[in-house]
Amino acid sequence: MRLTLHVWRQASSRDTGRFETFDAPDVSEHMSFLEMLDVVNERITQAGGEPIAFEHDCREGICGSCGMVVNGRPHGPQSLTTACQLHMRSFNDGDEIWIEPWRANSFPVIKDLVVDRSPFDRIIEAGGYISVRTGSAPDGNTFPVPKQFADEAFDAATCIGCGACVAACPNASAMLFTSAKVAHLGLLPQGQTERWDRVLGMVETHDEEGFGNCTNHGACQNACPKGISVDYIARLNRDLVKATLRARPAEAKDA
Ligand code: SF4
Ligand code: FES
Repeated sequence: MRLTLHVWRQASSRDTGRFETFDAPDVSEHMSFLEMLDVVNERITQAGGEPIAFEHDCREGICGSCGMVVNGRPHGPQSLTTACQLHMRSFNDGDEIWIEPWRANSFPVIKDLVVDRSPFDRIIEAGGYISVRTGSAPDGNTFPVPKQFADEAFDAATCIGCGACVAACPNASAMLFTSAKVAHLGLLPQGQTERWDRVLGMVETHDEEGFGNCTNHGACQNACPKGISVDYIARLNRDLVKATLRARPAEAKDA
């Protein structure tokens, strides 16, 4: 396939950035999207240019680092797929492809397609832990966990922290991510000790980091490569109300 790429180039967060066009004349349909970018980068480097910066690690859809917007969609045109798992067979000979970083004030561009997702780390720091002694693996398995909660906690735990939900949301809200992290531990018996502090701390940090409010667009769920459901946001909201009432019993009584 011969493709034309329009790639966002931005030297740093202070640079205004612009699209730069590249010819990609020899793309195999068997390449992954990142392999295609590797080949383009090789050509750029051989011509003495600055290669396109993009983030990646596992290239297996599990680390969450490879986020980019492809033709207006976070992670590209294929549902339930990360950019590294997107394959060039999803495109046609002669296509023009527009490639951009996540667009959100809370994720400033570091360079080209690489954004700073450290706000997610700070949300995790605000509650993504448990303080009980879990002991060895056999000890851990002595906690009975109802099947429904085990399944729901597992589904929440599949969130890879990629940030596509933020990029897709018109409010740049990170509520889908936060709700998955709240539910992951909050559904398990081991996570009950910090359950209420967790939801309060994570939501407070979410807001402090400048992410927007959820107004039920559902774009996050559609963009999520792991199929995290907006039901987790509803669960977070229920826990948030309970936690707030527990934290302010006198006010709750008056209300
Ligand atoms: S909820 Fe989905 S889209 Fe958002 S960070 Fe987690 S895996 Fe990525
Ligand atoms: S590189 Fe790890 S999820 Fe894409």
